[in-house]
Amino acid sequence: MTSATATPALAARRAGTGDLAGLVGLESSCFGPDERWSAPSWQAELDGDDRAVWVAVRTRRDADAGGCQAFDEVVAACCVHLAGEDAELFRVMTAPALRGLGVATMLVSAGLAWARAHGAVRMLLEVRHDNVTARSLYADLGFTDLYLRTNYYGYGLDAVVMSRPVGEPTPPEPTLVRTPANVPTGKGLWSDLHDEGDTND
Ligand SMILES: CC(C)(COP(=O)(O)OP(=O)(O)OC[C@H]1O[C@@H](n2cnc3c(N)ncnc32)[C@H](O)[C@@H]1OP(=O)(O)O)[C@@H](O)C(=O)NCCC(=O)NCCS
Repeated sequence: MTSATATPALAARRAGTGDLAGLVGLESSCFGPDERWSAPSWQAELDGDDRAVWVAVRTRRDADAGGCQAFDEVVAACCVHLAGEDAELFRVMTAPALRGLGVATMLVSAGLAWARAHGAVRMLLEVRHDNVTARSLYADLGFTDLYLRTNYYGYGLDAVVMSRPVGEPTPPEPTLVRTPANVPTGKGLWSDLHDEGDTND
C-alpha cells in the first residue's frame, strides 16, 4: 500500500489524463453511489475539445519511495463545456476536508475566465433545489435563478437552472482562498491559475 506525507502545496490547474484516477476517487467522497460519474465519463471530459476540467491539487510525497516521488492528489474539480455562446458548468466538487476555503469559488472563476476567452457570453448550470451549499456558492459567484426543471432528479427533486454573464468580473485575488493554519497552501492557487491560463488548449 502506498503511504504519503503532505508537503506545503495546494495548486490549481487544467486537468490531464494523469488526473483520471484522482477525479474518480474524489467523486466517491463528494457524491452518493447513484450520482457518481464513471471513469469513462471523466475520460470523455478530459479528452473533449469543447470542454475543460479544472482541478485543485495537493502535492504529496510517496513515503514508500523514500519521499522522493511527488504526486498530485486531486482535492477539487469542476468541468466547463462550450456550446456556442453558452458555456455549461458541471461537477463542481471539493474534498470534504477542504470545504469552505474558497476552493470551488476559485475553480469556477477559472472556468468562467476560460469560457470568456473562448467566446462564451453566458454560463449555465443545473443544481438540485435542496443543495443549499451549492446554490449559495453559485449565488455568491453572481449566478441567478433562470427557471426550474420540475422532478428533474426524480420525483420531488427539482433542478434549478442558474445563469451568469461570463463577462462580469469574478472575485479578485488574493482574498478568494481562506487558509486556516491546518491547510497548507503553496505560492498561490490564484497565481497558478492565471499563469497557466489558456496554455493547455
Ligand atoms: C458545493 C461545494 C462544491 C462547495 O465547495 P467549497 O470549496 O467548500 O466552496 P467555497 O469554499 O468556494 O464556498 C463558497 C461559497 O459556498 C457557500 N458555502 C460553502 N460551504 C457552505 C456551507 N457549509 N453551507 C452553506 N454555504 C456554503 C457559501 O456561499 C460560500 O461562500 P462564503 O464562504 O463567502 O459564505 C462542496 O460543498 C461540495 O463538493 N459539495 C458536494 C458536491 C456538490 O454538491 N456539488 C455541487 C453539485 S451542483
